[in-house]
Amino acid sequence: MKPLIVANWKCNPASEKEAENLFRDGIKELEGVDVAEVVICPPFIYLPMMGESLFPIGGQDCFWGQKGAYTGEISPAMLKDLGCQYVIIGHSERRTYFNESDEMINRKIKAAIAAKLNPILCIGETKDQRDKGQTETILEKQIISTLREIPESDFKKITIAYEPVWAIGTGNPCSVQEAQKVGIKIREIVSKIYSSKTAESARILYGGSVKSNNAAGYVKEAGLQGLLVGGASLDAKEFAKIVRNAV
Ligand code: PGA
Repeated sequence: MKPLIVANWKCNPASEKEAENLFRDGIKELEGVDVAEVVICPPFIYLPMMGESLFPIGGQDCFWGQKGAYTGEISPAMLKDLGCQYVIIGHSERRTYFNESDEMINRKIKAAIAAKLNPILCIGETKDQRDKGQTETILEKQIISTLREIPESDFKKITIAYEPVWAIGTGNPCSVQEAQKVGIKIREIVSKIYSSKTAESARILYGGSVKSNNAAGYVKEAGLQGLLVGGASLDAKEFAKIVRNAV
């Protein structure tokens, strides 16, 4: 399986023109790269302009229902209709600023799968939790609760992104050794719910201050299956370097 490199633009850029330019530059920079699966997750409003592109596209969040009286929400069915293949669910910024709970995330994952999207489930501990030695406990709780009642056949559509909160947007990435250890832990936790074969083949990404100078280690040394890139995905040249270095 090719490494999966996901660009999470977050709430950027501020205009459609800039989004168009960034996307066009990205396509140019990544021309001929087919050794990785590159997914672009822009703000919802820029998805239509990308629907016809070579890259798979994804949402950065979705609602847990497909339609109805839920002001402001975007449903998985709507994302699918726009051509999305993926959706990021449970990003720590959603958990922190919008109070998303594991229970909400679980419902979102189920709705995304029902709409035939591939969820990218984000998990990760805060600095405080890490300092207290709680990383494993937190990850286990997040994994068990967000995957509640999700059958093994559906889990195969889910990618887990390990995104330590203390590493996101801080310029302080998790070391390759630590990411590798956590990756092994995540597989152990997954094997408590599903078969060991499924746990072994689970796709696990790393995210948090990924740059072109550290991208390679997570995929080539830590044995993870790809990257979730935030800030650095807003620079087409740097993002293309990350993709090239990681494969
Ligand atoms: P960052 O963000 O690369 O800017 O640290 C990663 C993420 O939040 O997905």
